[in-house]
Amino acid sequence: MLNEDYVIKFPVDKHGLDQDEEFIIVNTGKQSEKIRLHDYKRIYNVPGLYEEALYKRLKCESPQVLCSLLQEAMDESEEDCTQLRVLDFGAGNGVAGECMRKQVGCETLVGVDIIPEARKAALRDRPDLYDDYFVVDFNELEEADERQLQKYDFNMLVTIAALGYKHIGTEAFLKAFDFVDDNAWIVFNIKDSFLSEGDDSGFEKNLSSLMDSRLSVLKKNHYCHRLSIANEPLYYYGIVGKKNE
Ligand SMILES: C[S@@+](CC[C@H](N)C(=O)[O-])C[C@H]1O[C@@H](n2cnc3c(N)ncnc32)[C@H](O)[C@@H]1O
Repeated sequence: MLNEDYVIKFPVDKHGLDQDEEFIIVNTGKQSEKIRLHDYKRIYNVPGLYEEALYKRLKCESPQVLCSLLQEAMDESEEDCTQLRVLDFGAGNGVAGECMRKQVGCETLVGVDIIPEARKAALRDRPDLYDDYFVVDFNELEEADERQLQKYDFNMLVTIAALGYKHIGTEAFLKAFDFVDDNAWIVFNIKDSFLSEGDDSGFEKNLSSLMDSRLSVLKKNHYCHRLSIANEPLYYYGIVGKKNE
């Protein structure tokens, strides 16, 4: 495992790479390793590497943008928003969860991720953040996990920087959507091309149909999620809504 004294470099030939092909070179002085930005198993194992590469160097702003959108929507609603029980789906090492706690505030925060490395990193880097953290696949949710999760009676689903590519697919996202209460707050972001005409990932079709029926969108923002390693803005939609009763 790398220690914390490392230098991150971007490849010289960095143009034309799709987001899931992008990589960095991490150099410790003794060894140099190529790590794909979507290789979370590897990235989370190095304390601080995810934050340094994605948030500091590539200026990811999604947690702040989504939390601000959510706050605006809450300020405009007449609901009591003091007892939020949040399912942080695709929680990773807790960057978005932490923003949720600090910027918006919540009563309960439960993380879910598909890889054990994410849970391990969250407990290592943010030990007091989550009330509970499950490593599960929502496409193959076991009864015992489902029962445990259901006890939290979630009234908010948050999925930040975790939809699309080989991350959370439409089926798992719709399962998580079904999992939270009627009238729950729904907060997510997604790369703009996945919501555009011509998308063949299934997101456009499924999310449009969701937004036409079971999700009332209150806020929708087109913004720069982060820079690519070639320094170009990557645009996403941030969406905040309420699940229809
Ligand atoms: C870019 S990270 C985002 C982490 C966190 N939400 C944040 O904003 O920092 C994407 C996370 O989604 C997780 N993920 C990918 N596919 C998943 C799935 N099917 N179910 C749950 N988590 C998944 C990955 O393991 C990774 O931790």
